[in-house]
Amino acid sequence: MAFLLNLFSSRLSLPAVHQFTHIFIQSMNLHPIGVFDSGYGGLTILKTFIGKLPAYDYLYLGDNARAPYGTRSFGTVYRYTLECVKWLFSQGCPLVILACNTASAKALRTIQQKDLPLMHPTNRVLGVIRPTAEVMGTFSETNHVGLLATTGTVQSGSYLLEMEKFFPDVKVYQEACPMWVPLVENNEYESEGADYFVRKNIDHLLARSGKIDTVLLACTHYPLLKNKIRQYLPEHIRLLTQDEIVAGSLADYLERHPEMEQRCSKNGTRHFYTTDSAEDFDAHATLFFGKSIQSEHVSIG
Ligand code: DGL
Repeated sequence: MAFLLNLFSSRLSLPAVHQFTHIFIQSMNLHPIGVFDSGYGGLTILKTFIGKLPAYDYLYLGDNARAPYGTRSFGTVYRYTLECVKWLFSQGCPLVILACNTASAKALRTIQQKDLPLMHPTNRVLGVIRPTAEVMGTFSETNHVGLLATTGTVQSGSYLLEMEKFFPDVKVYQEACPMWVPLVENNEYESEGADYFVRKNIDHLLARSGKIDTVLLACTHYPLLKNKIRQYLPEHIRLLTQDEIVAGSLADYLERHPEMEQRCSKNGTRHFYTTDSAEDFDAHATLFFGKSIQSEHVSIG
């Protein structure tokens, strides 16, 4: 397939190549697991999906043209997310994972309850907040947990609601870090500016309780700031990322839902799409995904 695409690339304009890729995906009868994020962050999750469940086909979509989502309203995040989910369904994905906390917080419930039954009653859309909340309390001995996330995720209160269900005795302290995604998206995550904002937000969080012994990075972009965060976090505090938790939860979901597991095709293919420049996406993606990729542009919305 790569050979055929190269052949087309050399002779055809980009939109034409894009159209042919779709024809190939359809002719191969692929039913990939769709993985969605506002930008690059979801690649940190996709990487662990592939590590744990390599046989499946995966189709990644980053809505880079409209990122970041973290400071946008509920209505806007819902509309953007729904458009992207519809597109992933149109590409044959029977299962879509919102590998984005902000989209999971602001759009998932409405899509699951209102849109899915009308659009595709047998397809499924899952998020990253519930599976994280299901296990988060088990890591804390003091029952005081800190959470670093986008403004949207914090304002939604989704983690507080979910944690209350699974760990009513655990106190959750949230800190919105509106500058962190822009720092990561703009390749400034190792700069002095990053030091300033990381230290500031961690100090705010820890000032709320001296008992916090576990801190969750509740945004899929934040693992890129992990070294800096670790630097400003006292040693005794455990730092959690979501990637392994969410991959374990997907494996468990597929085991418990054989009807869905059988619908997901298994040829080990990976396709990457972005709503912004494919060239830029490829240049940045390695940082998040751990190896180079070749993406394609798609216009959505
Ligand atoms: N990666 C997204 C998340 O997990 C946030 C990105 C954004 O603000 O667009 O929340």
